[in-house]
Amino acid sequence: MKKISVIGAGNVGASTVQRLAESKFGDIVMLDVVPGLPQGKALDLMQAAPLIGYDVNIKGTNNYADIEGSDIVIITAGIARKPGMTRDDLLSINAKITKEVCGNIRQYAPKSIVVTVTNPLDIITYAVYKYTEFGKKRVFGMSGLLDSTRFASFVAQEVGCSVKDINAMVLGGHGDSMVPLPQYTTVSGVPISEFLPHETIDRLVTRTINAGAEIVSLLKEGSAFYAPSAAIVAMVDAIVNDSGRVLPASVYLEGEYGFNDLCLGVPAKLGKNGIEKVIEINLTQEQMAALSSSEKAVRSGIEKLDMGIHEKAFLV
Ligand code: NAI
Ligand code: 2OP
Repeated sequence: MKKISVIGAGNVGASTVQRLAESKFGDIVMLDVVPGLPQGKALDLMQAAPLIGYDVNIKGTNNYADIEGSDIVIITAGIARKPGMTRDDLLSINAKITKEVCGNIRQYAPKSIVVTVTNPLDIITYAVYKYTEFGKKRVFGMSGLLDSTRFASFVAQEVGCSVKDINAMVLGGHGDSMVPLPQYTTVSGVPISEFLPHETIDRLVTRTINAGAEIVSLLKEGSAFYAPSAAIVAMVDAIVNDSGRVLPASVYLEGEYGFNDLCLGVPAKLGKNGIEKVIEINLTQEQMAALSSSEKAVRSGIEKLDMGIHEKAFLV
């Protein structure tokens, strides 16, 4: 049985805890700064257990000591977008929250694998990589899998086939510069260009890039959480079951794809140690140019980050 902690008991955090419980990976701790919020949601989820049949413990808390010894920590703490905001608008507040969260993870869960979710995703993942000093295997961000499942869902609706037959891949940063790869997207191994005209594929690519904003503008308050929590739990599944699945993840790069010292969405093999391997696929010149633009967008966000990584004072 694993111990999994989720920091942030908001929309993404709480729906992730529900999916984790239903997946029966192990005991779960849900932590938030708001008194009563994680405790109330944990109690509610525990009362669903006899009906759903998950025999795991879910503890809601405001105290970091409760995450002690966690195998996996998922960071969802922070503010979410409102209509008209970009993910980058969240940077300064979420970076401060992240620094505090990382100091506590270092103290109470020093051996954990950390999955970041808080936006702006690639920049926050870079901050977590630097603040925790856990290394590139044990720190990665979830976003490309969400973008890929969105693309897959749109393709399945357009083709009129089962979602189970779609394999889609979206690389790059989790923002307007993301890089959907329709050339590597298939229906049971057959390229989607055999099913859909170019104009339709282009429309679905654009819809995928704007998929998060589409939901924000519909909800008015807050952003997506059902598909994000499904993507988080798919990544946790790959770790817990040491499955070796190849999924897009925001990973710290050291020369892969020609990039250094930033986190960016690339395909990676996931297993019991976290990121087992970064997979370098052949990209066309056009795809590589799109990935380079995405890299520049993420790097400019990192430059705005007041890391203070040399001040260890934040470490508790
Ligand atoms: P939410 O507002 O529903 O929940 C955030 C929670 O974080 C709140 O309960 C809040 O009290 C808590 N929090 C704030 N400061 C904290 C601190 N210092 N320590 C512990 N908890 C703290 O937001 P939601 O929808 O759950 O989104 C969370 C984050 O995830 C946002 O930044 C959002 O943009 C991001 N996100 C990222 C996705 C991705 O693909 N990477 C997908 C969906 C959301
Ligand atoms: C999304 O793409 C908010 O990043 C989040 O829905």
